[in-house]
Amino acid sequence: MLRIAPSVLSADFGTLSAAVNEVAPEADWLHVDVMDGHFVPNLTIGPPVVQSLRAHSGLFFDCHLMMTNPGDFLESFRRAGADGCTVHVEVGDTAALLVQAKELGLHAGLAINPETPFEAIDPFLDQADLILCMTVHPGFGGQRFMAEVLPKIARTRAELDRRGLGADLEVDGGIDEDTAGAVVRAGARILVAGSAIFSADRPCEAARRLRLAGEKSLPGGQVDEAK
Ligand code: DX5
Ligand code: ZN
Repeated sequence: MLRIAPSVLSADFGTLSAAVNEVAPEADWLHVDVMDGHFVPNLTIGPPVVQSLRAHSGLFFDCHLMMTNPGDFLESFRRAGADGCTVHVEVGDTAALLVQAKELGLHAGLAINPETPFEAIDPFLDQADLILCMTVHPGFGGQRFMAEVLPKIARTRAELDRRGLGADLEVDGGIDEDTAGAVVRAGARILVAGSAIFSADRPCEAARRLRLAGEKSLPGGQVDEAK
């Protein structure tokens, strides 16, 4: 099974709830990019926006915390209505952050930047509910997909399977109809896409096409064109 997670980073923030509801029929999750201006050189949204959006959407809110100090905000995001929060392995204190997220009832995710080696997340595979492999340098939407991350995605998939771990494997950055196949073949099962969906004339249709493109590369390659 493949999940599509549109990233609101590329949506019109002035009409955010309308943008989210437009894409909702083809969205399994909603990806919410939180940038703090320290961990990444950009500043986006925080718990108040998540709380406002919560009143307009029943989607699973997959909050990607590109923050130096995510531990200070996990509880606020949970209270605001986040379903999952993903912290970056590069900020350190990983085991404690994953425990904190789980104790709050969050789906606890661990993200890894393109240049960080697999070995950094290896010790935490059995503690995370989700592994997010970044396929661009985090901070901005609309960047080019980094194919050099594919071996790390494949290795993560292989290790999860070898150890019988059920963590979700998500990819984020430059995912579109052309790149979806490669990440799915490498083992990703959650596709985050910002510009490929929200910059399209018809975002919901773009999300549907992305799903079809990814599903073709699933083992068996079944595609339900009628969906
Ligand atoms: C990048 C964010 C992504 C971003 C992806 O730092 O984490 O979620 O929205 O945007 P696209 O799909 O345009 O690369
Ligand atoms: Zn993201």
